[in-house]
Amino acid sequence: TKKIILDTDPGIDDAMAILFAEAHPEIELVALTTVFGNATIDNGTRNALYLKERFNMQATIAKGASQPLVRAPVGPTEIVHGVTGLGDFQIPESFTGRYDSRPAYQYIIDTVKAHPKEITLVAVGPLTNLALALQAAPEIAELVAEVVVMGGAFGVNDHHGNVTPYAEANIHDDPHAADIVFCAPWPVTIIGLDVTEESFFSASYLDKLRHDAGDVGEFIFDISRYYLRFYSQKVGLDGCHVHDPSAIAYVINPALFTTRKGSVRVVCEGPASGMTLQKLDKRQYQTDEWSSMPTQRVGITVNSEQLLALYHQTI
Ligand code: BDR
Ligand code: CA
Repeated sequence: TKKIILDTDPGIDDAMAILFAEAHPEIELVALTTVFGNATIDNGTRNALYLKERFNMQATIAKGASQPLVRAPVGPTEIVHGVTGLGDFQIPESFTGRYDSRPAYQYIIDTVKAHPKEITLVAVGPLTNLALALQAAPEIAELVAEVVVMGGAFGVNDHHGNVTPYAEANIHDDPHAADIVFCAPWPVTIIGLDVTEESFFSASYLDKLRHDAGDVGEFIFDISRYYLRFYSQKVGLDGCHVHDPSAIAYVINPALFTTRKGSVRVVCEGPASGMTLQKLDKRQYQTDEWSSMPTQRVGITVNSEQLLALYHQTI
C-alpha cells in the first residue's frame, strides 16, 4: 500500500478524489491537509472534517494556508463549487469536528520525517502548503516517495487554461508556490488539464454511481448537482471533467497515463500569470536557469475508459 497525504481545497471534485483514495485498498489515506481555493480555508476545512466523520475515515485533518504566498487572493470559486465548496449540499449546522493543532505545512514536515521515503504527497489545490513546507524544511524533498499534483496545462490537445486562457485554477491561485514546488529536487508528476479534461463524468455515469455505490454514491450524486449546472450553463457540457480524481488514479495505476519529462516552471506575473511551461529540448541555452533545474513528469495521455471503470469499481 501507498501512504498518501492529500493536500486539498474541498471542493466538489476534491471530495470525489478524497472518497476515491479512501475507498482504494492500495492507498492508506494518512491525512487531508487543507488549503484555500475552491472555498475559504474555514469552509474547506469544515468540508474535510465532515467527510471524515460521515465516511468513518481514519485520516488526520490539518488546516493549512488561507491565502497565496505573494499574489493577491482570488477568493473562493462560488460559481463552480457553491458558497461553501460542496455545491448546494448543506452540512448540518450543529456539526463540528477537530483538526490537528499544527498548521498543514508543519504536519506535512513532521509526517514526512517520521516516515522517510514512504509518503506520497498528492496536491489537488493551490500549492501553498507544499511550498511553505519546503521553505521551512527543504530537506523533506529528499524524504518523500513522490509528489503528484493536479494542476497546470501544457498545450496538449489544445488545453491551456480554465480560469484564464493560459492558466489553470490551482496554479493561477498561487503561481509562486507552484514554481517553488516544481523547482524543488523531488520527483513531481503533474496531472494537468491536458489529461483531466480528456476524462468526463457524464450525467448518466453519476446516476449509475448513485445507484451502485450506496451512501458514497448518493453523496457524490448530491454534491455534483451544482457542479453539473455550472458545466451545462457555462461550459456547455452534460457532465463534468475529471480533475482531482485523475491525480488519485495516477497514484493507483500510473500505467493509465503516458508522461513526458522536462523541467517545469510557472509564469508568476503579467497576462500569462499561472501559465505552466515545460522544457522539452536538450539544448544548452545562454543562461543556466533552466539547465540546472530538476526534471519533472507531465501527463500527456490517459486511458479514460479504464480510468472511469477504475473509479466506478473502487467507489
Ligand atoms: C482544479 O481547480 C479546482 O476548481 C478543482 O478542484 C481542481 O483542483 C481544476 O482546475
Ligand atoms: Ca481541487
